[in-house]
Amino acid sequence: MSQHIVSLGPTKLNGQITISGSKNASLPILAASLLTKGPVRLSNVAKLKDISVLLSLLASLNVHVTLSKDLLVLDSSQAHFAELDSSQAGQIRASVLLLGPLLARFQHVVLPTPGGCKIGKRPIDFHLHAIEQLGAQIRYDGQNVIASAPHGLRGGRVVMPLPSVTATENALMAAIGAKGQTRIENPSQDSEVLELIRFLQAMGYSITIEKEAFTVISDGPITTQSVDFHIMSDRMEIGTWIAAAGITRSHISLKHSGFNQLDTVFSHARKIGILLDEQPGCLFVDGRGPLQAQSFKTGFHPEFPTDLQAPFAALNASCPGPWSIEETIWESRFHHLEQFREFGIENLTLEKNLANYNSPHCSELIGSQVEGRDLRGTCALVLLSLAARGQSTIFQSHHIERGYQFFIEKLNILGANIKQYTNYDFQAKARSNLQSASTTVIV
Ligand code: EPU
Repeated sequence: MSQHIVSLGPTKLNGQITISGSKNASLPILAASLLTKGPVRLSNVAKLKDISVLLSLLASLNVHVTLSKDLLVLDSSQAHFAELDSSQAGQIRASVLLLGPLLARFQHVVLPTPGGCKIGKRPIDFHLHAIEQLGAQIRYDGQNVIASAPHGLRGGRVVMPLPSVTATENALMAAIGAKGQTRIENPSQDSEVLELIRFLQAMGYSITIEKEAFTVISDGPITTQSVDFHIMSDRMEIGTWIAAAGITRSHISLKHSGFNQLDTVFSHARKIGILLDEQPGCLFVDGRGPLQAQSFKTGFHPEFPTDLQAPFAALNASCPGPWSIEETIWESRFHHLEQFREFGIENLTLEKNLANYNSPHCSELIGSQVEGRDLRGTCALVLLSLAARGQSTIFQSHHIERGYQFFIEKLNILGANIKQYTNYDFQAKARSNLQSASTTVIV
């Protein structure tokens, strides 16, 4: 159901919030729960839309899922092969993460086209190439990728053309079911991938990490080992709140349960003028300034992460310029920058994946009506609205629930004047009234 956010600015933030578990670490770990027949007990899994959809897909494979307090328990001892529901798989990009584990467990997968944010073409050729190197045969029936390894997977050499995050994760998970040694070269070394490796190691699997390769040694069958695992804090959420503190010129603190690989982002934020004080379990962020926008270019780890491009674009837009941003990972991740103009930002030119703001002055931001299109971009629009004078409405704000747990609630804890509304679907309501009325007549 579509939602919109109404935000009244400008606002100052103040206080402490707790960072949720990492979305992009949780997703592959949930998929990897298929790689043991023993119970998997996970803590700190973020309660997000993408996670719910992946859990429903796992449940459709007869994985038993229970949630009590903060503990998510998955039991795949009775899991069986099933074709994945295309309407569910099509809602999230992470459905692609079932490719490797299903192949390892059942030697057969029927994978409908994955969905996800519209930020680029998002092909899956690296994923398919990886499983092919491990002996899978692949065909496409017009709607589904069908992969099978009737005689089992065998270890092999997988070379990633680019260090793709989820393709590396799929290669690792497929390799668990491949007899012998698998070497994955040029893998993504992002911290979410390393978290998956720690989880697989906790299951008892042998994976070694070298500078530019991972080696998996497996004897084929799936283990029965039980696993207890705490998911690290979401580094993209931490980066987003650093940007929020800067945009609102505020001082906030972020409680967390461990993260890494934010060095590039921290040094970029410090160049802007944000003070960061790292204490055990808590990061103090002082964005009171003075701040100065800084140009940046996204890239593969250890360069500036693309998932923080939008929040830091909003931070730049709230500071004196000039600045530029180059997005090198996704072809269509500038929708939020187009919408920034609605807040009164002039002198902003967008050419393919290059944004340029040529003025040394900070634009005066005024409340506006804008529309989100993807997770990070919609979040950036909300952040910018916090610095704009007057009321802003951000339509299609449901995208935020895919990746930020309790985002609006956390903003309210910090003192923002912001509310989320779920749009009333008059037609759907009328239809369901009609259906219940006709049911009553038949009875
Ligand atoms: N690519 C291909 N072929 C493939 C796979 C990737 O050409 O088979 C290209 C992509 O088109 C892109 C580049 O390689 O240009 C990198 O894409 P990657 O595969 O690393 O992205 P992903 O695994 O689909 C994950 C995150 C994204 C994040 C990217 C980059 C998850 C579930 N998603 O996606 O997160 O932007 O890595 O870091 O881990 C988000 O959280 O908002 C999000 C989009």
